[in-house]
Amino acid sequence: MTPRSFLLTPELSDYVRANSEPPDDVAADLLAETALLAERGEVPPTFQIPLEQGVFMQLLTRALGVRRAIEIGTFTGFSALCIARGLPEDGSLICLDRSEEWTAVGRRYWERAGVAPRIELRLGDALTTLRELPEVETFDLAFVDADKTGYAAYVEELYARMAPNGVVLLDNTLRSGRVLDAQSDDDHAIVTLNAALRDDPRWETVLLPMSDGLTMLRKR
Ligand SMILES: C[S@@+](CC[C@H](N)C(=O)[O-])C[C@H]1O[C@@H](n2cnc3c(N)ncnc32)[C@H](O)[C@@H]1O
Repeated sequence: MTPRSFLLTPELSDYVRANSEPPDDVAADLLAETALLAERGEVPPTFQIPLEQGVFMQLLTRALGVRRAIEIGTFTGFSALCIARGLPEDGSLICLDRSEEWTAVGRRYWERAGVAPRIELRLGDALTTLRELPEVETFDLAFVDADKTGYAAYVEELYARMAPNGVVLLDNTLRSGRVLDAQSDDDHAIVTLNAALRDDPRWETVLLPMSDGLTMLRKR
């Protein structure tokens, strides 16, 4: 099973999942395979977004009428599966990640779910790849879930590439509560970014207490 939010007791976390849309066979198998890889020590155990966050992101993608999306940090492909499923048939999702091995897992499930034609995976350093994309207002939705010290640069590069009203989601912006007592470079990077976004007039900003903290930005 996917990681639980540090904000909820295990019982409440189970309750949240039991009262949200359940995963279908494809999503359940992807979650199970990633959990098995984590058990064997082949992938980090906390990388995948929680199940209910995936459900939320799929719903949000559909409700916002997103046609073009971008993801930074794909891992074994669960968040990408959810976003892609929320897109219309002719929608598109560009995924940026540097791990061929981890994203290969996701590719199999995107095929099984029938959303592979909507997804373009670009392997390599995410910031370099992002900077190669034209500075044109393109994306209706962006999801950022990669190296935390890179978030500020990702947000900066995304700004010119987001459509007006485009929404950016930033994962792990509560750092399991360590935003109140930053310990690592990653924690400090997120604390600094959270404060900068709050004061940045270009974005409408809300930090949602979902999962490990999910910041939602709307391009003004
Ligand atoms: C937390 S995981 C993403 C989890 C994914 N969103 C999910 O829900 O399954 C972070 C991913 O970011 C990728 N990553 C980290 N830093 C990167 C960088 N500088 N360029 C490209 N990919 C990077 C890692 O390879 C890893 O797959």
